[in-house]
Amino acid sequence: MELREKTIVITGGGRGLGAAMATRLAAAGARLALVDLDPESLAKTQEACLAAGSDKVETYEVNVTQEDAVVDLFDRIHTEFGSVDGLVNNAGITRDALTLKYKDGQQVAKMSMEQWQLVIDVNLTGVFLCGREAAAKMIEGGSKGCIINISSISRAGNMGQVNYSATKAGVQAMAVVWAKEFARYGIRAASVAPGFIGTDMVMAMKPEAREKLTNMIPARRVGDPDEIASTVQFILENDYVSGRCFEIDGALRL
Ligand SMILES: NC(=O)c1ccc[n+]([C@@H]2O[C@H](COP(=O)([O-])OP(=O)(O)OC[C@H]3O[C@@H](n4cnc5c(N)ncnc54)[C@H](O)[C@@H]3O)[C@@H](O)[C@H]2O)c1
Repeated sequence: MELREKTIVITGGGRGLGAAMATRLAAAGARLALVDLDPESLAKTQEACLAAGSDKVETYEVNVTQEDAVVDLFDRIHTEFGSVDGLVNNAGITRDALTLKYKDGQQVAKMSMEQWQLVIDVNLTGVFLCGREAAAKMIEGGSKGCIINISSISRAGNMGQVNYSATKAGVQAMAVVWAKEFARYGIRAASVAPGFIGTDMVMAMKPEAREKLTNMIPARRVGDPDEIASTVQFILENDYVSGRCFEIDGALRL
């Protein structure tokens, strides 16, 4: 896909990896529909994308877990831009806890239903809803588009993240399903599984904690957000990429 003047939707596009993807794709001439809960970060990223060279950047304050809001979101984007050519399902959250915690034979904690459900709602249901609605617009508009789900190294199963790991394995599988189901319409789907990436949260860690983290990574550093963004750009641009997961993790294995 030639990105110039194509409409790319990025959920969680206000900050972090979503913002890095947005500014990179803007520099390649894409038009951007940025979706997030936080209007302030959306406005900042919109400004950065316009400065990077995009000729159209709109922001949408929408919760990806709400079916009616997501259906309405893609209707609006399709009307305002004229097409939907790409979707990056990037919005995601964590609510970490051990499934069960025992001390001296007594249960002292367990992952709550709230911790479980919130992560399932955003990371799994939100991806399903946005993917379904984006694909409908691509099919109806005749766009040979591409859907990218942001998974994680935790999809392999990370302690303290039974909720998050389940969703990140799920969105990787969802991309395979969509690659197969939508190929007949010329639509591709893939996923990206980042390791530890130096977003604000990671860079704000205490130096000792960050050093401990980087010592675990064979590459001896955290990834740069732009290294995830460049993978997203590669997937969008290469028309023979579909149904695969790209692991961008400096050789870290959990
Ligand atoms: N940063 C990392 O090291 C890392 C590693 C592996 C995977 N990931 C994945 O990459 C994605 C982005 O991570 P990040 O570090 O940039 O996170 P982040 O928390 O910095 O940004 C996530 C964005 O998503 C938005 N968001 C959250 N819930 C939403 C909802 N219900 N509807 C709409 N927007 C919502 C937030 O407002 C925020 O702007 C996530 O899916 C995350 O799981 C990140």
